[in-house]
Amino acid sequence: MQKIIAQLEDKRAQARLGGGQKRIDTQHAKGKLTARERLEVLLDPGSFEEYDMFVTHRATDFDMGDTIIPGDGVVIGWGTIDGRMVYVFSQDFTVFGGSLSETHAKKICKIMDLAMQNGAPVIGLNDSGGARIQEGVASLGGYADVFLRNVQASGAVPQISVIMGPCAGGAVYSPAMTDFIYMVKDTSYMFVTGPDVVKTVTNEVVTAEELGGASTHTKISSVADAAFDNDIETLLEVRRLFSFLPLAAGQKAPRVATHDAVDRGDASLDTIIPDSANQPYDMREVILKIADEGDFLELQKDHAGNILTGFIRLDGESAGVVANQPLVLAGCLDINSSKKAARFIRFCDSFEIPILTLVDVPGFLPGVAQEYGGIIKHGAKLLFAYAEATVPLVTVITRKAYGGAYDVMASKHIRADVNYAWPSAEIAVMGAKGAVEILYRSELGDKDKIAQRTADYEARFANPFVAAERGFIDDVIMPHGTRRRVIRAFSTLRNKQQSMPKKKHGNIPL
Ligand code: HXC
Repeated sequence: MQKIIAQLEDKRAQARLGGGQKRIDTQHAKGKLTARERLEVLLDPGSFEEYDMFVTHRATDFDMGDTIIPGDGVVIGWGTIDGRMVYVFSQDFTVFGGSLSETHAKKICKIMDLAMQNGAPVIGLNDSGGARIQEGVASLGGYADVFLRNVQASGAVPQISVIMGPCAGGAVYSPAMTDFIYMVKDTSYMFVTGPDVVKTVTNEVVTAEELGGASTHTKISSVADAAFDNDIETLLEVRRLFSFLPLAAGQKAPRVATHDAVDRGDASLDTIIPDSANQPYDMREVILKIADEGDFLELQKDHAGNILTGFIRLDGESAGVVANQPLVLAGCLDINSSKKAARFIRFCDSFEIPILTLVDVPGFLPGVAQEYGGIIKHGAKLLFAYAEATVPLVTVITRKAYGGAYDVMASKHIRADVNYAWPSAEIAVMGAKGAVEILYRSELGDKDKIAQRTADYEARFANPFVAAERGFIDDVIMPHGTRRRVIRAFSTLRNKQQSMPKKKHGNIPL
């Protein structure tokens, strides 16, 4: 028996060595951790249970039979984060560059199937040269098997992708179909075709970093939700993200005890709105002052800054926040912000996470570029996402809520549950200047008359009371008491039950 145990230990040690010490050293020299080291950072100490450590590929072409490495380039299994179960896979770049073979794909599919069956999220750590070239179409089939499961798992269990090395070609489509993508700065990249192909086809000269590095995907393309300086920081941030999420659809996110009192007021909110309607203020500050312990996990923070999205806790409960940001484009809705917020709302709605919406929006961004780019269809995504959401929705209008954007931003009319406005709110078809110019065009030459008309319009419409008179606003609240009022509103919605008419699925304007 001793001998057999020793043999097992030897086999395990060999598998743990992956592609060998030399390749491990190369990985470290690039500033990257190995697949197993990454799991040690991601998961609670000692919680990881590995499956399929001894699985090997079955390829024989290109003398592959001579190079059999146990585990075949991916480490899979389950462990816990803050004591909560999660299935994981971690690609091992030291084994054939982490490339995906038929058996490598089967291993990933195994934990995805278990995750769906047992109701736990999947976190994938990606570090791979793509399809295992020696296996050809078998590898492509393996990718498709993973893609199918990504789609089946979407909305059933949260899926998080962490890009920690190369991710190229069709391989990018698995992360793309997961809920969140985190990247590591400088050592990870994602693209459908690399710089060489780009040069050949379009004659554009671009580096891998410029084409698909973390900066590109967090700022320009919005493919990635966040990026961090190194492997360790990224994995610790994934743990933080995980703490806001439920394990599966139909379950609630965990409650995290807080010392922050429900009735903590914040007098500075009473003066945050500037006297001039055209002057901006930082909506992020409002979020931080409402959230438990000022903790806001912001997603896509470098993309479409005119809308803020992310997670906070309110009295210990996870909530998604969607907020117009007056500091950027005056908080207008445009193509990018509509897409960013719509996707976030759909995630929250899939996984029972209530949504707090903070509104200060002068409308949709005008312009040829926006119209040509399809703002109609993209803006509709946001409207659609809010209108189909059945999770608790609480809305606070801090200042402007003009035109169609008023309807879109979780208004009462599209089934938001509790709608509050600060006394500074202006809920109207448009701002006073624009309205007067249309209504009194013939008087435009007379400055005094126009000034009077503008003052009259502001007195009548630039306030929350016209909407409150109709019950579109449930109450006009003091800004300093927003945290308390919002938490109390959500507490009434814990058992909310709402549904959509029975159908296969809606047809969101993609
Ligand atoms: C097999 C691969 C491999 C692959 C890398 N390796 N990619 N083996 N299949 N796809 C091996 C290398 O032979 C090498 O083996 C080891 O991994 C490390 O690779 P290096 O090139 O030395 O590393 P580095 O310089 O860091 O470059 C990494 C890389 C490069 C940029 C990823 O290896 C590369 O360009 N690989 C090919 C990428 C590719 O074209 N993949 C197919 C994409 S199409 P040794 O033994 O020397 O250590 C695709 C389609 C998916 O993926 C379709 C889904 C529908």
